[in-house]
Amino acid sequence: MRAVVMNGTGGPEVLTLGEAEAPQHGPNELLVRVRATALNRADLLQRRGLYPPPPGASEILGLEMAGEVVAVGSACAGWQVGDRVFALLPGGGYAEYAAIPAEMAMRIPDSFRFEEAAAIPEVFLTAYLNLFWLGGLRAGQRVLVHAGASGVGTAAIQLIREAGAVSFATAGSADKIKRCLALGAQAGWNYHDGPFAPWLKEITEGHGVDIILDFVGAPYFEQNIRSLAMDGRLMIIGTLGGVNASVNLGTLLSRRLQVIGTALRSRSVADKIRLTQEFAAFALPRFADGRLQPVIDRVFDWHEAAAAHAYMESNANVGKIVLKVT
Ligand SMILES: NC(=O)c1ccc[n+]([C@@H]2O[C@H](COP(=O)([O-])OP(=O)(O)OC[C@H]3O[C@@H](n4cnc5c(N)ncnc54)[C@H](OP(=O)(O)O)[C@@H]3O)[C@@H](O)[C@H]2O)c1
Repeated sequence: MRAVVMNGTGGPEVLTLGEAEAPQHGPNELLVRVRATALNRADLLQRRGLYPPPPGASEILGLEMAGEVVAVGSACAGWQVGDRVFALLPGGGYAEYAAIPAEMAMRIPDSFRFEEAAAIPEVFLTAYLNLFWLGGLRAGQRVLVHAGASGVGTAAIQLIREAGAVSFATAGSADKIKRCLALGAQAGWNYHDGPFAPWLKEITEGHGVDIILDFVGAPYFEQNIRSLAMDGRLMIIGTLGGVNASVNLGTLLSRRLQVIGTALRSRSVADKIRLTQEFAAFALPRFADGRLQPVIDRVFDWHEAAAAHAYMESNANVGKIVLKVT
């Protein structure tokens, strides 16, 4: 099959369209002709040789896809050749074919194009996992979403709104903040205007927030701890700004705070199936009637995978960068 392959590791230029072995599907799996996939920060790290795929996963980049079922495993009930599906992958999305556990397949809403469906799995499931499973989000709570205009951020702001909770966002430009507000954030802070903690304290009237979704890591750690309310939870989802931080453990103890490191990709297949099915029950009706929307910045043809990676590295995107698999 055709696939985006890597000539070694390094910058975007190592990506080219080439040939790879097509996946075999097992009795519990669907074989899908991929029509669209989408970029994730993990792809950039893997391309640089800094994030090897988990054992057993494809070496090909790509953590999600949307496409058409072309073969159904003998033990899969309820699926037919021609069904339009989208799903999370442990790797292998930048390719003509992918094999997925049937229990992880979600049906694409009728009104959605493949490019729209491909923009959903990784960022929405990451946001769902961190807000609901790990964060224990309840209606009325307050959440701070860093990198609010990122793929995960734009998904999280919408899920928080749908949960009847309140979100605040940080981002690196006034335009990005505007987009966060349009998606449902109550207020936003451009971090180029100074530290976010004093702003957050003021707009929450000193209460702070119950959950923080953080992708920045070390440079935000002290401010994050300061910004949490009693029993608050800090989710470390990414470390875009650095990994080494120090903490006053007394603060964690006296305010009963939790700091939780989290990774979706390395979770078991059983966990991902349970997560996908719970998410699908919550989100698919909302995607179908427009309450939730995939946020797409740009669609590239997969021949332009290198340009798409360079674009993500420029931090310009709001929401997802999609690759059309032609
Ligand atoms: N743990 C997991 O399971 C998991 C799963 C999925 C994604 N992630 C992580 O989640 C993060 C977001 O992923 P994504 O695909 O949504 O990313 P994305 O759409 O590419 O957006 C990332 C944004 O983060 C901001 N940013 C980058 N470096 C920054 C820094 N040093 N300080 C402050 N902001 C910075 C930039 O926006 P501004 O203009 O606002 O600076 C950038 O556009 C990544 O770190 C990714 O690795 C983790």
